[in-house]
Amino acid sequence: MRTIIVMPGDGIGKTVMQESLRVLEAAGFRATYVEGDIGWDFWCNEGNALPDRTIRLLEKHKTALFGAITSKPKEEAAAELSQALQGKGLIYSSPIVGLRQYFDLDICIRPCRTYKGNPLNFIRYGKREEIEEPQIDVVIFRQNTEGLYCGVEWSNPDGIVYEALRTHKNFVKNFGNVPRDEIAVSTRIFTRKATERILKAAFEYAAKNGYKSVTLCEKPNVIRETSGMMYNMAKQMQKSYPLIELWNTNIDAQMMWLTKNPEDYGVIVAGNMFGDIVSDGFAGLIGGLGFACSANIGEDVAVFEPTHGSAPKYAGYEISIVNPIAMIESACMMLDHLHEKEIAAKIRAAIAEVILQGRVRTYDMLKMKGSPDVLKQGAASTKEMADAIIEKVIR
Ligand code: NAI
Ligand code: MG
Repeated sequence: MRTIIVMPGDGIGKTVMQESLRVLEAAGFRATYVEGDIGWDFWCNEGNALPDRTIRLLEKHKTALFGAITSKPKEEAAAELSQALQGKGLIYSSPIVGLRQYFDLDICIRPCRTYKGNPLNFIRYGKREEIEEPQIDVVIFRQNTEGLYCGVEWSNPDGIVYEALRTHKNFVKNFGNVPRDEIAVSTRIFTRKATERILKAAFEYAAKNGYKSVTLCEKPNVIRETSGMMYNMAKQMQKSYPLIELWNTNIDAQMMWLTKNPEDYGVIVAGNMFGDIVSDGFAGLIGGLGFACSANIGEDVAVFEPTHGSAPKYAGYEISIVNPIAMIESACMMLDHLHEKEIAAKIRAAIAEVILQGRVRTYDMLKMKGSPDVLKQGAASTKEMADAIIEKVIR
């Protein structure tokens, strides 16, 4: 039997994970689940939010579901360490970023698809001022390990770094007179290998799933070296996929177009930061954080997670009110990855039916402000939403 590592993490990660596992079970997915320790408690008690034993589990079993973790700024994190760990110079770092880097989970996939009947769907006026609800079916491929998020950065860059910067004529022209200690630098490094992999993943996905276009969403006219390299590589790669068009949009224009003609886009591919931005943009059109699922895929290991965080303000509720759909959809992406497409399709159909019927809706779908009272005002709890999905799955 397959073994899946389950990392609920913190806050609402725990509740949405629990409900997702119930849905998987009801849908007939059989696996052994092993819990992986991750998150705030392990930082406080062990000084490491991502214990080595969790890494070893993933090395062995390769596939994981992840809920969400709580992250806090350096100083706050240090203050919450247990007494025994205080003053040892431990520095907090995000365990999910750690996982992505350790296992080189370089391909992040974030689908954004409209469910009919979701009251959170994006609508707009049409030509005759009639209200239109475009059907969005976009899958974003975000490079997950490089670019602006790779952590190669300096404040008050030291002598060697500063001298290296001074070898660039634009640096001298634009910053040559700025004192060194008034400069902060974050680098944007792209490699051919990782760029090739994310482009390939995007084109392959488009080809296998019948999408007519791949849109590269970068800014090659301005960020010439990194975006430019990616654009040139994309043009080259498109030659192997004659049935798929390559579109090229700039991130800023894309953010404007996504509310004008979101239904025109299919697969979108971008570097780390622009992929992050454009995927949140599209997620907003299909229901927001309660619906935004994702996969982090490397050559060896894959981790599936909702894009939302631990929502601490809703974590302590006696009855959880948050929407489990993002986590359940992430579990469906895991099923696809494990070639359990039938079970995944069954769960997605069940979610679609629950949303279309509209009898069971969590507070976010009812546009309520989150509080324990929402349950009295007709919102479904996390468990009730999962129950409604399970009812359709087992029928
Ligand atoms: P968040 O995503 O946890 O919550 C923001 C707001 O979105 C919530 O207050 C709630 O109104 C709504 N929301 C989130 N998930 C929802 C759901 N399933 N159903 C309904 N509504 C939902 O982001 P926030 O508040 O900025 O961060 C909270 C903690 O989570 C922080 O410590 C942050 O570092 C961490 N975080 C962790 C992530 C991860 O584990 N991958 C990602 C984002 C944040
Ligand atoms: Mg984000």
